[in-house]
Amino acid sequence: MAIHCLGRVLVAIFFVVIMIEPDPAVGLRKSDLLTINGHDPVSVPTTTLVGICESLVIVHGYPCIEYNVKTEDGFVLSMQRIPDGLVKGNGGNNKQPVLLQHGVLMDGMTWLLESPDQSLGFVLADNGYDVWIANSRGTRWSRGHASLDPANPAYWNWSWDEMVDYDLTANLDFVYSQTGQKVDYVGHSMGTLIALAAFSQGKLTDRIKSAALLCPVAYLSHMTTAIGELAARAFVGEITTWLGIAEFNPKGKAVADFLKTLCANPGVDCFDLIRSFTGKNCCLNESTVDLFLKYEPQSTATKNMVHLAQTVRDGIIMKYDYGNGAANIMRYGEIRPPIYNMSNIPHDLPLFLSYGGQDALADTRDVGLLLDALKFHDGDKLTVQFVKDYAHADFVLGVTAKNIVYDAIIAFFRRQ
Ligand SMILES: *[C@@H]1O[C@H](CO)[C@@H](O)[C@H](O)[C@H]1NC(C)=O
Ligand SMILES: *[C@@H]1O[C@H](CO)[C@@H](O)[C@H](O)[C@H]1NC(C)=O
Ligand SMILES: *[C@@H]1O[C@H](CO)[C@@H](O)[C@H](O)[C@H]1NC(C)=O
Repeated sequence: MAIHCLGRVLVAIFFVVIMIEPDPAVGLRKSDLLTINGHDPVSVPTTTLVGICESLVIVHGYPCIEYNVKTEDGFVLSMQRIPDGLVKGNGGNNKQPVLLQHGVLMDGMTWLLESPDQSLGFVLADNGYDVWIANSRGTRWSRGHASLDPANPAYWNWSWDEMVDYDLTANLDFVYSQTGQKVDYVGHSMGTLIALAAFSQGKLTDRIKSAALLCPVAYLSHMTTAIGELAARAFVGEITTWLGIAEFNPKGKAVADFLKTLCANPGVDCFDLIRSFTGKNCCLNESTVDLFLKYEPQSTATKNMVHLAQTVRDGIIMKYDYGNGAANIMRYGEIRPPIYNMSNIPHDLPLFLSYGGQDALADTRDVGLLLDALKFHDGDKLTVQFVKDYAHADFVLGVTAKNIVYDAIIAFFRRQ
């Protein structure tokens, strides 16, 4: 059973479905899907807007500072900083900064949903790190722009290429400018893709001390579940239709209708979707799943979804494909979009990769392709962790993740 990143999108979407019939313990049933039809997505309860620091960090007694970071292409991204743990002064005066980058359709809350002794954001703060949390363009707290409103389709004219070129750069530059130190990086799913893409171009490696990549997503070609394939095909096959909807809002009616169509296909199993998409998560806490439902999922650009689907189709990691030679030549000066070559990642950049045997999204065969591309990496600069029982969500929300994954990340950071 294999599917990957694009499935994550659907996972998030299906969490919304559950939200409509609020009984996460039961999982998704066919009857839930039927209720989407005619349901006014606007009436889905949304969280009161109080900010991430206020709603998830300060309540636990940790200090937290909100920042706005401007990208070169005009986006205003929110960032949270947890400069200290519960025990003050741990880590000395010159604390090591660490930047946490969430995946697609998620936001910075990803790192804070578990209890403080189980969530990576707090665990790092308590281990003496200066913790910085990124929120990608288009998500709830990062919808500002110098001149464009999210209601304007032009606001959504980007894919993960722009997250590589602008968001990641702006965030790392900002942390570097505030702390004067090279940054440790942690990414989950698409947060790994944008980092790997940047590193493969030799970018930002002067800002990074080391990088921990959870559920590394680069190659995406091993999608084998029926619904995942259909979704990916729909995205690349109906570009014009989809680009008419600039914002990909998992809480919106267009996305609900899209899913209904997919589920109507013969051979598509919409009965236990969470499990078939993320894999068999061993270690989720029901309370955390409830919190997840409360805060996520978040919007992204439809163009970003199309770009991810192109990666599935092509089995090659490239910039966004405008779909015809002339348009690509206009944009890139070449018929085909430029490739991100993972073998070009500087061989001495310290990397920690952690992936799960049950992860239906970051498929082990796709991780295998990435590891193959990294085979000339300096042996002592590449640490690989394989967690046999873990599926996709366990890495950020699992109750055992602290002992299994986070402690290993901290040990890796300290070795560099
Ligand atoms: C999107 O941006 C590209 C340049 O990156 C531009 O050529 C194109 O006209 C823009 N499209 C829209 C709909 O704004
Ligand atoms: C699950 O979360 C709740 C609420 O944070 C907590 O009280 C409980 O101890 C957690 N269970 C486990 C197994 O961590
Ligand atoms: C990527 O780079 C490696 C090493 O520089 C090279 O051998 C390989 O052919 C490149 N791959 C592609 C798809 O260009």
